[in-house]
Amino acid sequence: MKTLVTTIQKGGQGKTFATCHLAFDFQERGLRVAVIDLDTQGNASWTLAEHDSGYQASRMFTANTDELRGWFTNKKDDGIALIAADASLANLDKMHLGKAAGALRVSIEVLSEFFDVCLIDTAPSLGVAMTAAVLAADYMLSPIEMEAYSLQGMKKMVAVISNLRKQNPKLKFLGMLPNKVDARKPRHVVNLAALQQAYPKLVVPFSVGARDSIAQALGEQIPVWKIKKTAARKASQEVRELADYVFNRMEILQ
Ligand SMILES: Nc1ncnc2c1ncn2[C@@H]1O[C@H](COP(=O)(O)OP(=O)(O)OP(=O)(O)O)[C@@H](O)[C@H]1O
Ligand SMILES: [Mg+2]
Repeated sequence: MKTLVTTIQKGGQGKTFATCHLAFDFQERGLRVAVIDLDTQGNASWTLAEHDSGYQASRMFTANTDELRGWFTNKKDDGIALIAADASLANLDKMHLGKAAGALRVSIEVLSEFFDVCLIDTAPSLGVAMTAAVLAADYMLSPIEMEAYSLQGMKKMVAVISNLRKQNPKLKFLGMLPNKVDARKPRHVVNLAALQQAYPKLVVPFSVGARDSIAQALGEQIPVWKIKKTAARKASQEVRELADYVFNRMEILQ
């Protein structure tokens, strides 16, 4: 099993959009997908509610391997098993980071007996949950809007990544994903060029536009390619390109 965390220390960039769409796409590829929602906002849990496994995300930090193994043994799902956000996630910030990361690693190891890929959605703050997820993951993806505040958030994120990679050398950064890009806004074009120039190797070679159908799909709890509107076509192509890219870079084996 390969584990991907979607993260950036700035809200509203598209972490949950990416997590949910990767889950939908990977499910269609026939992969068994676990999605862990570590954000108390519970946005991914809401969009993927139909796939709820009944196991709560905060339990991933208690390292109760028997309970976790028991829960998923012989459990049926439709290809996506949501480990939903719960209120106890808020207590994680009182937990020692090393312990939290260690427990999450152990839980992920157990999940690997049942799933091909594990996607972790995080909250926008650099708390214990997000840090532990970065320490336990194999891959990381960071969606980012082409706005000044977002670019500043990314600067901080790059420093954090290089620090955390010392503690998790296996972590591969799949890149910054320019998201909600509006090519008609000169500001977006300029900021995208600046981002590519500042981090030539860290920006993915495509972007996702600001597409209303993406927000609509997340609200309707379906992937954007199931939205029956001509306007959703371009969005679907872009999201499929993202999924292909992540799938290939993660070298997921079934
Ligand atoms: N490419 C896009 N085009 C249009 N709307 C988008 C796009 N990507 C995301 N959105 C919308 O923007 C909002 C923020 O996206 P999302 O929730 O995925 O960000 P996030 O990084 O998970 O935010 P948070 O940090 O609060 O968890 C949502 O309402 C979502 O529907
Ligand atoms: Mg989110």
